[in-house]
Amino acid sequence: MLSKEDNKLLTETDKGTPMGELFRRYWVPALLSEELPAPDCQPVRVTLLGEKLIAFRDTNNQVGLLDEFCPHRRASLFFGRNEEGGLRCVYHGWKFDACGKCVDMPSEPPESNFKSKVSIKSYPCREFGGIVWTYMGPENEMPELPVFEFTLVPESHRFFSRRIQESNYFQGIEGGIDSSHISFLHRRVHDNPTPTQKAVENGAPKFEVGKTDYGLLIGARRETKDENFYWRITQYVMPWYALIPPTTNQSQLRTGHAWVPMDNENCWHWSFSWIPEAPISEPMRENMRAGRHELHTELIPGTLRPVQNKDNDYLIDRELQRSKKNYSGIRGIGMQDAAVQESAGVIVDRSTEKLGTSDAAIIVARRVMINAAKGLEKGEAPPGLDVEKIKVRAASIMLSKDVPFQEGAAELMKLRESDFVYSS
Ligand code: FES
Ligand SMILES: [Fe+2]
Repeated sequence: MLSKEDNKLLTETDKGTPMGELFRRYWVPALLSEELPAPDCQPVRVTLLGEKLIAFRDTNNQVGLLDEFCPHRRASLFFGRNEEGGLRCVYHGWKFDACGKCVDMPSEPPESNFKSKVSIKSYPCREFGGIVWTYMGPENEMPELPVFEFTLVPESHRFFSRRIQESNYFQGIEGGIDSSHISFLHRRVHDNPTPTQKAVENGAPKFEVGKTDYGLLIGARRETKDENFYWRITQYVMPWYALIPPTTNQSQLRTGHAWVPMDNENCWHWSFSWIPEAPISEPMRENMRAGRHELHTELIPGTLRPVQNKDNDYLIDRELQRSKKNYSGIRGIGMQDAAVQESAGVIVDRSTEKLGTSDAAIIVARRVMINAAKGLEKGEAPPGLDVEKIKVRAASIMLSKDVPFQEGAAELMKLRESDFVYSS
């Protein structure tokens, strides 16, 4: 449970709010590079932290992220002409470059110097690992770009997507670090379950949660039939990333997520999929593109809103639910998460909830976030900005009961940059 005051602090991220100011100290994944496929391509609307913005790629391949609204009479630059090194408002022709400078003002007389006095809000952007990152904070506080395994692997080894989630960002994070729900919400019936699958069916894991330099290290252990514990180890990396452990084979497809606030009532749910040692096969990639993969969801064409959404109850199939093959009756892990997280309301009232022992990670995560936001107000540096400290990997492992997971999984949890080819 959280007081109404703390819940407000945790969930509001507009400029000037404590959490909004904290988030503006980190690089923000704004959109996929491929969403701006070529110089002078069409601009893309991106709302971040309560600010409506327009992303575009100029003639020189530089990405700009500008205020959506033209400083002249506030027309949307979404309708702008992307041409000759800038985005031109179609209302009266004012044109802005990727840095926000007004470079042409054809509606004013040639002798006017009004153009030199006008600019539009713009945020610096960098492309790395297939993502356009932006920084929305004070210029002199800009940190290094974050380095995750998924941004280091070659392009052929990764597949990323983003979609709208119609809830506050923190409801997504809470789902991402809540290892106990996989035994219910995402339960599948296996005819001949492996020891790992059997262990996952145990819905009452014991949690060990440790604060770290980057956020939280969360170990969830389950009893197995023999002398081992089955550990699922998740990292919560500030300010909004969760690295999800693979169920069995460490070399399989790996997963990470980010929940980036659009505004207080919506967020961008990013899914990062990658295979460290091998390219993603073409059929698997095709499935992901088509939204047939569990995490990468089918979207309404021309939008980033899932086909399964709250207006159609996520296409819940009650027959499927009764069949016990699928616990929720909702298809796709991503949509199962969206359904429950959005169903609690756009901003869940945490003053009315009843938390149990399996909510341990969530309780600590809230505290870490609130303390970081309050700390920043007092002049403390935000956690998780040291790029070296976030080089971690999620893991799942069977360990003898007398081995602490921090020791037994130490090697699996290390991210060694030398193992990777740098992507561009
Ligand atoms: S509103 Fe954009 S040029 Fe006038
Ligand atoms: Fe989930």
